[in-house]
Amino acid sequence: EKGGHKYYMAKEMSEQPSVIGDTLRFYMGDGDAGITLPGELDFTDLDRVTIVACGTAYYAGLTAKYWFEKLARLPVEVDIASEFRYREPPLPQKSLAIFVSQSGETADTLAALRYVAGTGGKIASVVNVPESSIARESNVVLPTQAGVEIGVASTKAFTCQLTVLALLALKAAQQRGTLTDEELRQHAANLRALPGAMNQALALAPEIAALANELADARDVLFLGRGVMYPTALEGALKLKEISYIHAEGYASGELKHGPIALIDPNVPVVVLAPRDALFEKTVSNMQEVMARQGKVILVSDSAGLDSAREGVWKWIRMPEIDPVFSPILYALPVQQLAYHTAVAKGTDVDQPRNLAKSVTVE
Ligand code: F6R
Repeated sequence: EKGGHKYYMAKEMSEQPSVIGDTLRFYMGDGDAGITLPGELDFTDLDRVTIVACGTAYYAGLTAKYWFEKLARLPVEVDIASEFRYREPPLPQKSLAIFVSQSGETADTLAALRYVAGTGGKIASVVNVPESSIARESNVVLPTQAGVEIGVASTKAFTCQLTVLALLALKAAQQRGTLTDEELRQHAANLRALPGAMNQALALAPEIAALANELADARDVLFLGRGVMYPTALEGALKLKEISYIHAEGYASGELKHGPIALIDPNVPVVVLAPRDALFEKTVSNMQEVMARQGKVILVSDSAGLDSAREGVWKWIRMPEIDPVFSPILYALPVQQLAYHTAVAKGTDVDQPRNLAKSVTVE
């Protein structure tokens, strides 16, 4: 049942190249015909998109904010469902609410959806279970093609959510005319390159397992990311704490000097998620501040990044090269692997972490 894997989580992580391929085919087919959504969504005149979700799905939404704003020049608000539902925020007339949920049954997310429905707002949902409550109550359902996810820690559902949201941002960009046809084609090609790059990233598992053995004794771990990689830092910290029970926090790299740098000492590993993108040098300077305080840096980057910034870092993970815009989809993998192998090294129950349920149907 676990396909020769020790845990469902391992199996589900390994399925990512294939289910991301399925998700891309669902929306783009095999040819060059562009992106087809399974329902009517018009982004042309929107003033705002509001994305609401919980936990890992919320981090997928936070990542999508960067994509919608950059690619489609569309303002995005992202909120945690349990906050959104009780805040009862006013929504602009010309807006779309997107709910992201693997199970489609998360109580707070469903309540937030019903609040928007009550205001007459248009509702789309990115769900993995098409017959779920959230799917049934949405105007447009955007399915992820992750297949059944059993491990409590979300892995393949998360990367599929990111993929659907990336496609949606591209569709919005096309409708709003913010990208040229050539740019759209290039972004689509970059998405299609993901399954191959993911296979390469999965092949790093033995290296990451060795590194995780050294992480297992840590009491606290920090994750840093900048720009589109910031939500990946949050997700990395969540994954690590939920399955290995090691205290971890994710921060935007630029926030380091506003407080968390006080935590840095030789016992606090700092995972820096930094593909060589336009903001790379900024993140490197944050990383150097960590190293100047004897912090142990684990740098996750591509060859270009590692070649220029590896000096003095404690460990590194060499990622395949991809276009930086969609790097969160690829960099989710080492972050999951790090959490997984750390948990295995500690001997915790990876698929059934203490105190957690797969589907949170009560608030
Ligand atoms: C973390 C995790 C949770 C869920 C959250 C939302 O690994 O799985 O944070 O992402 O409970 O669940 P769904 O997506 O079912 O609404």
